[in-house]
Parts: sequence; structure tokens; C-alpha cells
Amino acid sequence: IAIHVLNGPNLNLLGRREPGIYGTATLAEIERRLGERAAASGVALTARQSNHEGDLVGWVQEAGLAGAGILLNAGAYTHTSVALRDAIAGSGATAIEIHLSNVHAREDFRHHSFIAPVCAGVICGFGPVSYLLGFDALLHLLGGRSP
Ligand code: DQA
Repeated sequence: IAIHVLNGPNLNLLGRREPGIYGTATLAEIERRLGERAAASGVALTARQSNHEGDLVGWVQEAGLAGAGILLNAGAYTHTSVALRDAIAGSGATAIEIHLSNVHAREDFRHHSFIAPVCAGVICGFGPVSYLLGFDALLHLLGGRSP
């Protein structure tokens, strides 16, 4: 089983970015925790981040066409990107939408996701734990066994 963790714009700033909202863990720390979980469950993990929409579209296509599951925190592109939605739908990817913050408790413009309708599910509001919950959920969907 392969899982790709894809992070979008500004998530490279985790740790210093609005810590009251996003916490103090860095993206490297989150990826390390996911890596431990993946190793314990025999999953091949790929972790990538980009501030560019086109990079994310390409990576979603790559994972989807390869049959890998996707944990996707598309950041602000969640609320704007028809292209990312189409990449998930078009590549047949099994994806879970992830957010650190509870987007529904925030500004109205964060309440709508273009991506959620083509994802298997959405996990938001648990900080870095959102990724770990998403990992377990995705593993379950792909037929694997959580540690
Ligand atoms: C976010 C929520 C988005 O609304 C925001 O644009 C982000 C981070 C989150 O993880 O909480 O960049 O995806």
C-alpha cells in the first residue's frame, strides 16, 4: 500500500505561521510522525509540499494513476481550486481532505471546499493529529491494517 501526503501553499511555514490557529509543530515533525506510522504498518509513504497549484495537480494525478491513496491538505486551494478537484476525479484517486484547523469555525470563505465532494472524507480541527487520523482512515479504505 502506498500513501502520498500532499501539502499545499503556506504549509511549509507551519511552526511559525499563526501558531494560535495552526499550532507549533513543523511540517517536518508531522511528516516524521506519519513516517513512523507508515513504517509500523508497512506503508510506502511519500510526502511533498508545494506553494504552486500546478505542482499539486501533477502530484495528485501521479498518485491517483499509480493507485496510491492521498492525504491532501490543499491549504487555501481547498477553497478555490477546480483544477485540484478535477485531478482527483480524473485520476480516480482515493483521497482524504485534511485540515489542521476547524475550517467550519472560521471565516465564511473557508466553509466551502471544491475538493470535499470528490474525497472519501474530510478530517479537520485536530491540529497535527488530523493527519494521523487521516492516515488511519485511508489505510482502512485501502484495506490495510493500522498499527
Ligand atoms: C488549512 C485551512 C485553510 O483554510 C488555510 O487556507 C490553510 C490551512 C488548515 O490546515 O487548517 O492554509 O488547510
